[in-house]
Amino acid sequence: MIVTTKELFKEAYGKYAIGAYNINNLEQIVGLFRGNLGKTAKNEDPCDNAASAPFIIQISRGARGYTDKRFLEGMIRNADEVFPEAIFAVHLDHGTEDVCYDCIDSGFYSSVMIDASLEPFEKNVEIVKRVVDRAHAKDIVVEAELGQLGGVEEDVVGSVKLTDPAQAAEFIDKTNVDSLAVAIGTSHGAFKFSGKQGLHFDVLEKIQKAVNEVKPNFPLVMHGSSSVPAEWVARINNAGGAMKNASGVDEKQYLPAAKLGVTKINIDTDGRLVWCAIHREFFRDHPEKFDLREPGKVFMPAYAEYIIHKNQMLGSAGQLEEVRKVLKK
Ligand code: G3H
Ligand code: 13P
Ligand code: ZN
Repeated sequence: MIVTTKELFKEAYGKYAIGAYNINNLEQIVGLFRGNLGKTAKNEDPCDNAASAPFIIQISRGARGYTDKRFLEGMIRNADEVFPEAIFAVHLDHGTEDVCYDCIDSGFYSSVMIDASLEPFEKNVEIVKRVVDRAHAKDIVVEAELGQLGGVEEDVVGSVKLTDPAQAAEFIDKTNVDSLAVAIGTSHGAFKFSGKQGLHFDVLEKIQKAVNEVKPNFPLVMHGSSSVPAEWVARINNAGGAMKNASGVDEKQYLPAAKLGVTKINIDTDGRLVWCAIHREFFRDHPEKFDLREPGKVFMPAYAEYIIHKNQMLGSAGQLEEVRKVLKK
C-alpha cells in the first residue's frame, strides 16, 4: 500500500526513523521489498527474518532518466501487488521544480522533494511554496532542503553550509512544507569524512527546538546517511576495486538523531556498495560465467539482509503492524 511520508512520520516522530532507499533497477526493488516484508514472489526463497518495517522508496532524477521512468513505476506497482502487506511511500529525491510537477501530475508519487537549496533563502522559499501549493492540491506531500551538504548531489558538487536553526523555523512557516532536509554534517557519496568528524547534534537539537516552536513534531530529514561499511568496502577492494579512505555515518547515530526529530534517513550509496561487491566477487570467482541472473540471485538476498540490518539500526524494524493499526483508525 502506497501512503504519504507524512502518514509514516506521524507514528515515527521522536521514536525511530524510516529508511528512505534509492532504487534504480528490478533487483534492488525485489531486495528492498523482501528485506522489509519477507513474503516473496513464487519460486524464490522466503526471507524469514524480514524487518517488518515501513519504508520509503526514493527515485532520483538520475534513476528516472536511466531508462524510461515508466519502467520503475511499473516495477514498483507490481511489487506492491506481489508484496500486499507492504506499507511504503514513493518519493522523488532531489527534484527540480519541473520534475516535481511531472511527478505530482503523474498520480504515482505520494511525496516529492524540491531541492532549491543552492538558491538564496528567499528564492528557495518562493520555489518551495509554489511546489507545495500544487502538491497539496493533490494530497501529495513535499520535502525541501535548507543548508548545503557536502559531496556530489545529482550533477551539483556542493560545499558545506550547516542549516541555520532560526532560518529553518522561518522557512517552514513561510513555505508550509511538510518536512525539511537539514545539513548537519553529512554528505552524499562514499567519502564523507576525512578524519573523526561526525554529526553536529548540537545544531540538530537547536533546529528541532526552533521548528517545533512553529509546528510541533515537525519531521526532519537526514540526507547523505549511508554508513559505508568497512566490510563492504574491503570486499570491493579485495575483488579489484579501488575505494581508498571511504567512510560514512556511524549507524549508532541514527537513533539519537531520530530522538531529535529526524524521521527520514536517506540511504543510496550503501546499496550501491552491496551491488558492487557482490558483482565484483561473482565475476572474479566465476570468470567463465556470463549469465546476468546468476549474480542477481546472489545480490537480491544480500540486499534484503542489508535492508533488515539497516532497519534494525534505524529502529523501524518491527514497526509495520503498529503503522497499519494507526492507518486504519
Ligand atoms: O542524493 C543523490 C542520490 O544519491 C541519488 O543519486 O542521482 O546518482 O541517482 P543519483
Ligand atoms: P548517501 O550517498 O549517503 O547514500 O545519501 C543518499 C541521499 O541522501 C539521497 O538523497
Ligand atoms: Zn540526498
